[in-house]
Amino acid sequence: MLDARGLETTAANDAAVRNFDATIAQYLRFGTETGDCLKRTLAEDPGMALAHCLKGYFFMLFCLPALVVKARASLDAGRRAAGERGATDRERRHLDALDAWIRGEFEQAVAHLEAILADHPRDVLALRLAHYLHFYLGDDENLRDSIGRVLHAWDDTVDGYGYVLGMHAFALEEWGACDEAERTGRSAVERNPADLWAVHAVAHVMEMQDRRPEGVAWIRESEPRLGECNNFGYHLWWHLALFHLELEDVESVLRLYDERMRADLSDEYLDICNATSMLWRLEERGVDVGDRWNELGQRCEARTGDHQLVFADVHYMLALAAGGREAAVDRMLDDVSAFAEGAATEQVVMRSAGVPLARAIVHWYRGEYAQVVDVLAPVRYRLPLIGGSHAQRDLFHQLLIAAALGSGRYETARTVLSERAARKPRNPWTWKRYARALAALDDDEGAAQARETAARLLAG
Ligand SMILES: [Fe+2]
Repeated sequence: MLDARGLETTAANDAAVRNFDATIAQYLRFGTETGDCLKRTLAEDPGMALAHCLKGYFFMLFCLPALVVKARASLDAGRRAAGERGATDRERRHLDALDAWIRGEFEQAVAHLEAILADHPRDVLALRLAHYLHFYLGDDENLRDSIGRVLHAWDDTVDGYGYVLGMHAFALEEWGACDEAERTGRSAVERNPADLWAVHAVAHVMEMQDRRPEGVAWIRESEPRLGECNNFGYHLWWHLALFHLELEDVESVLRLYDERMRADLSDEYLDICNATSMLWRLEERGVDVGDRWNELGQRCEARTGDHQLVFADVHYMLALAAGGREAAVDRMLDDVSAFAEGAATEQVVMRSAGVPLARAIVHWYRGEYAQVVDVLAPVRYRLPLIGGSHAQRDLFHQLLIAAALGSGRYETARTVLSERAARKPRNPWTWKRYARALAALDDDEGAAQARETAARLLAG
């Protein structure tokens, strides 16, 4: 059988393939029907290897140990199906990619996906998953080129082309090509307003360029569609809250936090990351966040041994340390150190960047600001290893600056803020803290200029 993009697919009947296509279409738009479409696919053909593999991929995307077990069962079902009925090389390679991912070998998984794409550049599932894995790996160059490598096989006549443009936009933004990213992202959204990944890519451009009011307006334009998607919608609400935070509109941030980001107190890792990183930013700005840490801390108590993504782990640590859950903090510090001994992808990342980050977070909440600087400053250029976007990882750069100021390490603060002001010249948060560092170092003129710059940026 042939799928929507003409790829040979092993299935018992056409209905299974059409439902498989519908599942991919739903997945690409963060649709709430994704799971039901996949169920219908497997109901039409319980022996469809690629559908079992897709189920396994979906389990892996939750980054939960309990679902890794289920992903293993899906892999076994997929292998059994491939053995009984036969499978194409592409399908077998997908099963190999899932296998590597389950074993925590992200580089191997993405190598399988890239090998599929070399032969089948229209395999949009392989493309999306490679996109995510490059993103998890913090590999901006492959994030960019993974899409670039397949563009020769795509144009408007191929189903799903807009999604490819959306991924390209995000990749270009993370690599730093913001103008090209925005053009590409906007053309993806024009083709398909439901492509929230493309909407998100343009929001990231605005975030990187500190275009705060435009960012608010851009996300508000997509508001009707945020209610129709899965939990990814919460991440776009997070971006909206971030723009409001940078406009110093705390009331809107807290409203978005309560009514949108944490409306259903979801347990998904990305939702917890959004929430914890927003609460940290609010508190650093002197905002009383009430008891909002509490429900997050409770959830994260059960996550101290997860280690599916270092990126998620360090956000769980934020919730534990902020909530003063000392026993869980100590347990998690031991846990991450033990995990960091191994050789799988995230174990190496944990050793290199995760453990120092976790320690820095704990020092911060114990008021040991000098130790935060000592632990964090040497690893700050390694932070891309933990994956996530520049906007998400910015939290840890802010942590370093806040700790340098808090501990009276004003020379360090000046250095890091000088870098940051050069990189983000329109960011008021930066200039305000730069003013504090300069004033403490008796550079009164520089401090006054920095204060004026902050005020001008906030007014304009
Ligand atoms: Fe984002």
